[in-house]
Amino acid sequence: MGGVLQLPKPMPKPVTNVMDQTITSVSREHRIFRPSAEFQRQANLGSLSAYKKLYEESVNSPEKFWRREAESHLVWRKRFTDVLKWTPPHAKWFTGGRLNIAENCLDRHLGTARENKAAIIFEGEPGDVRTITYRQLLFHVSRLAHVFENLGLNAGDRVAIYLPMVPEAIVAMLACARIGAVHTVVFGGFSPEALKARINDCKARLVITADGGWRRGKIVELKANVDKALEGAPSVQTVLVLRRCRNEVSMRDGRDIWWHEAWEGGPNIHKAKAFDSEHPLFILYTSGSTGKPKGVLHTSAGFLLGAKMTAQHVFDLKENDRYFCSADIGWITGHSYVVYGLLSNGATVFIYEGAPNHPEPDRFWRMIDRHGLTILYTAPTAIRAFMRWGDNYVLRHRLDSLRLLGSVGEPINPEAWMWYHTMIGKKRCPIVDTWWQTETGAIMITPLPGATPLKPGSATLPFFGVVPKVVDSLGHEVPRGTGGKLVITRPWPSMLRTLWGEDDRYKRGYWGEFPGHEDYYFTGDGARQDKDGYFWIVGRIDDVLNISGHRLGTAEVESALVSHPAVAEAAAVGKPDDLKGQSLVVFVTLKAGIPPGDALKEELRAHVAGEIGAMARPDQIRFAAGLPKTRSGKIMRRILKEIATGGEVRGDTTTLEDFSVVASLQAEE
Ligand code: WT7
Repeated sequence: MGGVLQLPKPMPKPVTNVMDQTITSVSREHRIFRPSAEFQRQANLGSLSAYKKLYEESVNSPEKFWRREAESHLVWRKRFTDVLKWTPPHAKWFTGGRLNIAENCLDRHLGTARENKAAIIFEGEPGDVRTITYRQLLFHVSRLAHVFENLGLNAGDRVAIYLPMVPEAIVAMLACARIGAVHTVVFGGFSPEALKARINDCKARLVITADGGWRRGKIVELKANVDKALEGAPSVQTVLVLRRCRNEVSMRDGRDIWWHEAWEGGPNIHKAKAFDSEHPLFILYTSGSTGKPKGVLHTSAGFLLGAKMTAQHVFDLKENDRYFCSADIGWITGHSYVVYGLLSNGATVFIYEGAPNHPEPDRFWRMIDRHGLTILYTAPTAIRAFMRWGDNYVLRHRLDSLRLLGSVGEPINPEAWMWYHTMIGKKRCPIVDTWWQTETGAIMITPLPGATPLKPGSATLPFFGVVPKVVDSLGHEVPRGTGGKLVITRPWPSMLRTLWGEDDRYKRGYWGEFPGHEDYYFTGDGARQDKDGYFWIVGRIDDVLNISGHRLGTAEVESALVSHPAVAEAAAVGKPDDLKGQSLVVFVTLKAGIPPGDALKEELRAHVAGEIGAMARPDQIRFAAGLPKTRSGKIMRRILKEIATGGEVRGDTTTLEDFSVVASLQAEE
């Protein structure tokens, strides 16, 4: 391999603005970090040639490769007959096979050395710690599965989970999987409105929530939010309420039941039924380029295989690892890399309930030392926050248990990468920068830590079976070094199967981008490949923002704004931000006769947070007399973006209807 990659060049000079440096240094980034001999020796996959060999097999003989992997990784009740049935854009993987996903995460470890191993180590924000073994986790899940059955829940029924990051959230997901119910986890930071929309879209029968959860020393009133959401959600028959914070809640007779009461008595052995490979496992809502969130549907065998294989290889899992992923289970990262991918591998997963800076900004480092955690998987936005909080918070701790670091959610700028590498990893730990999406179910482009030489800012090379390409608008591959659209040209086991109730949107949105290439999955991301074939992800090129590693549709924010009585029209754009990657700037025109002012700005910011959730609160609101539009009436977001960034309006403005709008917007700030 040695000759293929360039030798490291001197580091670029530091400049004051982190974002400026991101832009210049990603394109000038030539540093290469090879896995150490020490890491390679112990790695599950210890050389680039071993990766290449397996990768080539996976794309040249996919049938053979996936058959073998699916047989060896999963516990089948009935063996599958076909590996793949592919009628683009609909895939069916491992048909004929039957299995139970909870059994694949739990029962399989009983009667082995893992039976009394910690499955979950939990630390609550107040500092309470619980350890749950595989045997105990199965006990909890079995009992909850009985509760579900007693409630009359059937396979295929939808269950909304709106819980803090506590072990019961994992128990709830696995109990759904065990009886074949379809979970939809809604992040606890979402508003009652957002929760209601998701419940109504999938017509959930059961909602599982808690009295509250801890966040920065305060209680997030989850049950009260559910009560509000259910004012307009007729499908819900039962609300199961976990006691966490002991804050006061109102319980409605005939609808609401306490988890600890429902759970009393009852058998703790639950015989799990087997379900088809393609039985729906979960729906997870994510932002798209229109206002309505997309209900991404994942099914059983293929999803689990993707999550399990990637977890094992990307995190180089070993029996004594203690793995910490800082994502909430409300996001796909929590589904694949807290729950399914890790527990199916029999790993020990550490979870934390609260904020990273509570009571002080060294909370993560303290927990890593306290519990001897070995792997940390977090997001660039968090890394940049840690950098800003200062090295002293890190230097108080040993961090010598860590052996591997991961990054996910957005491109990591090389400066954050270097800080992560030196300050957290003490130059010992490889960093896996993993590119994937809610839709892909599992990691797609990533280093394998014992094999892949790392380049800060690049997600490097595709995982087994994944064939990504960078193409132009016609779907033709562009030359190396040129930017283009990132597509995946082959189906993969953990791919989404459709959008819940919106198959047309699924077809158009992901597979209709390149006429003549209806088997190309369009990711919505821009990317380029360098001369070594490494992928560099630029970020979203559709109307989706990435704020602190979370996806937010511009249309969602806009529809929240126009639902306010003062607003006539609104346009949301992203502005580069040192900390959050992008910050949210909205341009608002007011209805006739409504006076602009700071109080109204505050009110609108709060209104958006109330409609969607705190993560959607606009960073900046700008009142405008008009918005720049094309002659056909389409808002020209590109121009607004340039205005928000404070730059001059460049590029083509010939389709603009009225240039004076732009002039007045620029003059305003
Ligand atoms: C979008 C998907 C998948 C877990 C978390 C986000 C961006 C994700 C990376 C990365 C550059 C990344 C992309 C992608 N993204 N990981 N390592 N490098 N960009 O899931 O909410 O579905 O968002 O996040 O833009 O399309 P998601």
